[in-house]
Amino acid sequence: MIRACIFDAYGTLLDVHSAVGRHASRIGDIAPVFSQTWRTKQLEYSWVGSLMHRYRDFWTLTCDALDFAMERHGIADTALRADLLDAYRRLDAYPEVRPMLVALKAAGVRTAILSNGSPAMLGSAIVAAGIADVLDATVSVDEIGIYKPDPRVYDLALRRLGVTAAEVTFQSSNAWDVAGAAAFGLRTFWINRTRQPREYLAATDLDILDDLTLLPARLGLASG
Ligand code: LAC
Repeated sequence: MIRACIFDAYGTLLDVHSAVGRHASRIGDIAPVFSQTWRTKQLEYSWVGSLMHRYRDFWTLTCDALDFAMERHGIADTALRADLLDAYRRLDAYPEVRPMLVALKAAGVRTAILSNGSPAMLGSAIVAAGIADVLDATVSVDEIGIYKPDPRVYDLALRRLGVTAAEVTFQSSNAWDVAGAAAFGLRTFWINRTRQPREYLAATDLDILDDLTLLPARLGLASG
């Protein structure tokens, strides 16, 4: 019996590339690769900091990663930097996210975010994305000062929700995050929005969806 669905935030519910997308005309043709550099470095900083046992919050890493991406791609524009960070606090949710969360809640399933994001950036993002009212909990790794895919992160979500591993599913578009949750013992769905090749993930026991539309149906709940 599934009592809660736990979601990664960035890339899974929230479109991390919508920040650059809003200002793409000021960046030019390199906008997509610039956005990818920003995201890649943000994640790399989380893993390297974890291995060094030097936690810095995800907003700080997001700012540092943007600075790297701007320098790497030859963009020196302080007004653009401020606008991109502002946009990152107000990312778009993917279009199917809200109806999917509504369907889960209508079926009596609790909904939660488990994210590397720091509490303030998550708080502003879910309000701006119009999904705050359909989330029962927003759990940030910040309270334990360690990033995904450390097993303690997935345990934190269970403790916050007061559920067992058998009572939840975990959804992420990040294959490495899915792998971490599966290694911890959660039932996982890989939301492979951009048709990435399989990585990290064992060949068996893996549910893959193109987006979150069909999640309620796959769980045997009303399709919404
Ligand atoms: C998160 C990042 C990993 O939301 O996407 O935790």
